[in-house]
Amino acid sequence: MPLPQGPKVRRGTLRIRDGWYAPLVSPAPTTTRQGEILNPALIGEPTDAEGVPIGRDMLSGAPVAHDPFTAYATKQITSPSVLVIGIIGSGKSSLLKTAYVLRPLALKARRCVVVDRKDRDGEGEYSELTRRYKGALFQMRIGGGGTRLNPLDPQILAALGASGQFGLLKAIADRANDGAALDPKWEKEALRVAYRRALGVAEAAGRVPVLADVTGALGVVDGVEAWASYSPAARDRMHQAGLSVKHLLNGVVADELEGLFDGPTSEEVSLSSRLTSFDISQLPKDGPATALVQAVAHAWLLGTLRKERGMGTNFLAEEGWEMVSGPVAEQMNANQMLARGLGLSNVVAIHHLSQIPGGSAALSMVKEPQTLHLYRQDRLEDREACARFFDLDETATEKLGNLDQGEHLMKVGLRPPMHVQHVRSSLEEVLTETDSAMLRETPSGAAPLGETAEVPV
Ligand SMILES: Nc1ncnc2c1ncn2[C@@H]1O[C@H](COP(=O)(O)OP(=O)(O)O)[C@@H](O)[C@H]1O
Ligand SMILES: [Mg+2]
Repeated sequence: MPLPQGPKVRRGTLRIRDGWYAPLVSPAPTTTRQGEILNPALIGEPTDAEGVPIGRDMLSGAPVAHDPFTAYATKQITSPSVLVIGIIGSGKSSLLKTAYVLRPLALKARRCVVVDRKDRDGEGEYSELTRRYKGALFQMRIGGGGTRLNPLDPQILAALGASGQFGLLKAIADRANDGAALDPKWEKEALRVAYRRALGVAEAAGRVPVLADVTGALGVVDGVEAWASYSPAARDRMHQAGLSVKHLLNGVVADELEGLFDGPTSEEVSLSSRLTSFDISQLPKDGPATALVQAVAHAWLLGTLRKERGMGTNFLAEEGWEMVSGPVAEQMNANQMLARGLGLSNVVAIHHLSQIPGGSAALSMVKEPQTLHLYRQDRLEDREACARFFDLDETATEKLGNLDQGEHLMKVGLRPPMHVQHVRSSLEEVLTETDSAMLRETPSGAAPLGETAEVPV
C-alpha cells in the first residue's frame, strides 16, 4: 500500500555565502514590548533581524541577533567595537569564538584576527580552532623560532604616519623603562631623532628599517642638523640621553622581547586567510611582551587593511586589559578613527573594570564600544563600577551578580540591556569547551574557511 503523501518539503541547503546569517524565526516585537513594561531594566527592543545570531532573550524567548558592522553602517551605533566583561568561567570565550569568529566567517565579507593569550596544553586556546578552519596560525616565541613582527614596518608607517609609528616605538621604550615614560625633554627627543635617522639609513640602503637601525642611531650626535647649534654641553647631554634609551632598548629587545620584533616582519605573515591567530600564550605573563605584541599586531593590521579593503575585520583580544590601559591604550585610542575607517572592530574581553587603572585613554577605550556583553560579576564593587560606566539601573546591576554560565546582559548603543542566553550548536559546544580533551574528540567535518558554508534548512 502506498504511503500517504504529506506536504511537500524542500530538502536541501541554504547557501549563506551571499546573504545574512540571520535567525530564521522573526523577532517578536510585541512580546518584547510587553516585557518591557513588565521588566524595563532587562528588556531592550528586539534586535536586528539581519545580523549574527547570538542566542535568545531570556524573557521573551525571541532570538537575538546583532552585527556591529551592520548596526554601525545603519547608524544605530557610533562604534563597531565590542567589550565583553565577566569573571573567569562565565562564558566570554565561548561567545567570542562563536559570535565573533565562527559565525561571522560564514558571511562573505568578514575576517578575524585573534591575539590568543590563554595557554591550553602548550599552545593558545584558539590554535585548534584555527587549524580546524584552515586559518593562519602565527606563534610568537621569545628567543626566536617564532613569528616576527617589525614595529618599523613600512606598512605601519603608511597607516599610522611617522608620529603613530614613533608612538609604537616609544611604547616599547617606555615598557623597557619599567613602564615609566621616557624623559620628554631629552630622551624622547633622542629617540625621535634616532627614529628619523633609522628611516633615512634604511631608505639609503634600499631595505626596510628595523629596530637595530634605531639603536644604532641612538647616542649619535654628529651630523644631526637639529642639534647643530647646540652648545657642546647640550650636545653631550643629548648624547647621554640617546645612550640611556639605547641601553634600555638593547636590553629589552635582546632579553624580554628576543625574536619578536628585532628584524623584518616574517614573510609568512599576511591576511590571506580569513582567520588569523597570533598565539602569544607562551610569552611570559609578567613581562612587556604580551602588551607590545598586541600593539604591534594591531598596528600591522591597520597597515595591511589599507591595502586590502572591503572586509569587516574583528580584532579579538582576550584578557585584553592592556588594550584598554597604559601606553598601548593610548596608541589604540589615537588610532580609533583610522580603525573605523578601515572597517576594523576591536573586540576586547576583560574580567572586571578594576583591572583598568584610571586615566583618560583607559576611560575612553572602555566608553567607546557600543556593543557590550556583561557577564557575571561576583564582587559588589565590580557590579557598581559596571553600573557607573554603562549606566545600568538597580535591577540590571543586581542581575550581574546572579547570571548563569552563558548568560549575560547585552547592551547595544542606547538601547536598554537585554538578558541574553548565548546559544551554541553542538559542534560549537565542543569547539568552545574549555576541557581540551573534548576538543580533540571532535568529529571532523567543519567547513574550511573560504569555502561556501552551508547550513541545513
Ligand atoms: N552559552 C553557554 N551555555 C552553557 N555553558 C556555557 C556557555 N558558554 C560557555 N559555557 C561553558 O562555560 C565554561 C566556561 O566558558 P568560557 O567561555 O571558557 O568562559 P570564560 O572565557 O569566561 O572563562 C565552558 O566549559 C563552557 O562550555
Ligand atoms: Mg576565556
